[in-house]
Parts: sequence; structure tokens; C-alpha cells
Amino acid sequence: MKVVIPAAGLGSRFLPATKSMPKEMLPVLDKPVIQYVVEEAVASGGDDLTIVTGRSKRALEDHFDLNPELAAFADLPGMRELESLSDRTTLHFVRQRSPRGLADALLCAERHVGGETFGVLLGDTINVCDPPLLRQLLDRWRSLGSQGSVIAVEPVVPEKVSDYGIVAGPERSPGLWEVRTLVEKPRPTEAPGNLGITGAYLLSPGIFAAIRETPPGHHGEVQLTDALRVLSLREPVYAAAFSGHRYDIGDRELWLRTNVEFALEDPELGPRLRDWLKGRVGG
Ligand code: G1P
Repeated sequence: MKVVIPAAGLGSRFLPATKSMPKEMLPVLDKPVIQYVVEEAVASGGDDLTIVTGRSKRALEDHFDLNPELAAFADLPGMRELESLSDRTTLHFVRQRSPRGLADALLCAERHVGGETFGVLLGDTINVCDPPLLRQLLDRWRSLGSQGSVIAVEPVVPEKVSDYGIVAGPERSPGLWEVRTLVEKPRPTEAPGNLGITGAYLLSPGIFAAIRETPPGHHGEVQLTDALRVLSLREPVYAAAFSGHRYDIGDRELWLRTNVEFALEDPELGPRLRDWLKGRVGG
């Protein structure tokens, strides 16, 4: 399966840390977020990945390349893990010349994806799911006769609907909706429901024509959510609940919480961190 990973955003919620460093390179414990995303794509069956980057994003390419200066450390477990990940997939990098949003980033990968149904994972979101999230979407898609598109959704509290693309439509079977309405970042009073798009998509190649026909929307950018609305008038678009947890690291609080949660689960760090936290905050 081909997978596109948009990673060209400015990281403006994380300045100044992201002034010259891609937000996708922020570490969660000792791995950058992009590595978790690539691991998930590969675990889902992705064997051909396109990462859409932009200016100041070269570190993303370097991370998956060989570094002869670090040859002496090649046997460290983390380095071996990264090396084996890079060996198991083909990575392509394409640059978006100016950050014009998610839909435009996908268009940058169009020639590479060609006419196949493909996966999309956001470069700043870690999904901890079993089976991996794109695999869950792929299984849904197959059970629907391998047609249309499937996007991952989860319920969102009313105060947060304006951070998400929100979808609505009839529930076809438990946890699977046929999407009829999509609104990008609505005001709570205008949201058609509470199902938020989490940032994992299995898209039919029809999305590219739909993106081209979609006028700019929220923030003056062509939104993928709006293009999916155009697509849904032509072919089925499904929204699927999934099992697992999603960690968005897009701002400092979310990033910090993700680090704490991952550290608490880490066999080496967890017990020590728990004791230290108890000493700091009690309980
Ligand atoms: C993007 C999408 C939005 C989706 C969100 C998930 O927004 O446009 O529909 O709900 O990802 O994180 P962004 O977070 O890039 O502003």
C-alpha cells in the first residue's frame, strides 16, 4: 500500500522550538514523532511512503538516511531498530513549495500515488492501535467491497469541535457511518455532530480531482475535509471508529502529556518516573 505523510506544516503552535526544526522531529522519549508515524505506516502494510516536506524540513530526510559519522553507534538497539525500519520500506520525499494546507500537500504526492487507493497519516500524530490504524481502515474498506474512502473518526467534546473536521451521516453498522456532511472546524453551534476526523485516511484516487475542484475554505486554504465533501457526492466516503489511542503532539501541553504517558509505560523509565512524580505532586 502507498502511504502519504503530510509533514509540511509550519508548527506555529510550537514556536520558537519549530523555527528551524520540523515539529515532526520533536522527540517522544528518544524517537522523533515522524519515526512513530513511519513505523505505523509500515506495520499497516505500507511499503511505499511519500513524506511531503517543505522548507526547514531537511532533518526529516536525514533521519532516515545513513550517517557514517555515527557508524560507531550503529549497534545501539534504537539505531538498529531505525535501520531495519528504513530497510523495510521505500521512502520518497517531495517538497511543498509553500505551506498551503493538507489538501495541497496531498496534491504534491499525486503523481507518485497514481491511480491507487492510498493511506494518509499526519506527520504530527502518533496512533497507538492494535491492529495499526491504517490496517483497521484497510480491513473496513475491504469489507465494504474495496470501494470508496474510509476516514478514522472519534467522538469529540463540544468545546473541541472547532479544532477538527466534523462529519455526520447514517450509521450503517456499529462504528461505521456513511458520510453525508463534513465541516472543517465548525463553531460548536454549527457542528453537524460530534465525530471528529482524527487524521488517518484511506482515500480513493478520486480525491485528487475533488481537491482541484474545491474552493479555499477555512483559513483561506483548500481543506481536505471540503474536498472529501465534494468526493462524497460522487462515491462513498465512510467514517470508521477504531480501537486504540491517538496522540496529537501539535502543542506543548499535548506533546508533554504524550511524553509522560509513554515514559510511564516504558519498562526502564516508568517506575523511576512514577516515584519522582509522586515526590513532586504527591498521591
Ligand atoms: C487537520 C484536518 C482536520 C482534522 C485534524 C486532525 O487539521 O484539517 O480535519 O480533524 O487535522 O488532527 P489540523 O490539525 O492540521 O489543523
